[in-house]
Amino acid sequence: MLPFFSSKTVHDTLNAEIQVAWQRFYASNYYVLGTEVKAFEADYASWIGAKHCIGVANGLDALHISLRALGIGPGDEVIVPSNTYIASWLGVSQTGAKPVPVEPDSRSWNLDPRRIEAAITPQTKAIMPVHLYGQACEMGSIMELAQKHGFKVVEDNAQAHGATWNGQKTGTFGQINAHSFYPTKNLGALGDAGAVTCNEEDFADFAHTFRNYGSKVRYYNEMQGTNSRLDELQAAILRVKLRYLHQWNEERSMLAQRYLDALADLDAIQLPHCQEGATHVWHLFVITTPKRDALQAFLAQKGIQTLIHYPLPPHLQKAYQDVGYQKGQFPLAEKMATECLSLPLFPGMDAAHQAQVIEGIKAFFGQK
Ligand SMILES: Cc1ncc(COP(=O)(O)O)c(C=O)c1O
Repeated sequence: MLPFFSSKTVHDTLNAEIQVAWQRFYASNYYVLGTEVKAFEADYASWIGAKHCIGVANGLDALHISLRALGIGPGDEVIVPSNTYIASWLGVSQTGAKPVPVEPDSRSWNLDPRRIEAAITPQTKAIMPVHLYGQACEMGSIMELAQKHGFKVVEDNAQAHGATWNGQKTGTFGQINAHSFYPTKNLGALGDAGAVTCNEEDFADFAHTFRNYGSKVRYYNEMQGTNSRLDELQAAILRVKLRYLHQWNEERSMLAQRYLDALADLDAIQLPHCQEGATHVWHLFVITTPKRDALQAFLAQKGIQTLIHYPLPPHLQKAYQDVGYQKGQFPLAEKMATECLSLPLFPGMDAAHQAQVIEGIKAFFGQK
């Protein structure tokens, strides 16, 4: 089977450097919140252009901690995309606040700023743009709206490390922003990992304290925090991989362009659309077609693995059934769920693999 994703080539190339990082970690004799976490936090903050980076255990915790730092809690509402991975919603729900879905733009599939105002209520406190699939949201309009209404912004930058809006990196627009380093992400650890970035000292101080049992001084607890520390070994690995992120994003971009060129004549599919002002780091290459299920089965028969991001939108998940959402309430999210298909794309993917995917899609639609 030609895999949807593999980090094997990248990891083979980095083997020697990762061994060095591992040995340094092993010999340090200090395994929680040590020098590796501190060094990665400094590296990532400098790379993204933020004053502070606080390493946490995963992207979901990064969202939850960001919202808590802003004081979001029960009785509040946070605007979220209707078509995101459920973690974006869960980060809000975990604070006791309510996620309020807003539909995406039907070409970029990112949160549509033109639809936000209709979802505002007296309880709205924040907006959570998710840079879905790796493309930057329209941050200019979103920040303007937030300013106009006095809302905070928390970016979910799990999928878009390195993307930009008008030249500024995603993950630096909101007051405090969340990042995931899940292994398949553009910057991926060898296990779970995440981070929060911000410029304001108070938010950084909150995140530092909250992630470590609410404690600044050992065995003295200022708040009911949690244990969500970035693992020291993951930080050592991430320090190595961060140096290659730009190169990998370039490679993703080259692969994406090949798909865009090769599939441009197929009217039966909608290709990813990059909005003016936005760059895309191609975490996922997502096409849409009403024949999605048949196309996926056809490719699978040819030994090509594809995935669906995501097959059921959050409002129709059992996890949110208590809210009472109905089918048909968020038609664009639902259309995405039935029509989207993610094609294999990852650094180290070889040309022959990609050619087979392209041939397979063309054959399905009866083209040469
Ligand atoms: C958009 C989005 N938000 C949040 C997360 C949560 O990250 P993690 O899996 O590290 O908790 C993910 C990835 O899984 C994601 O894709």
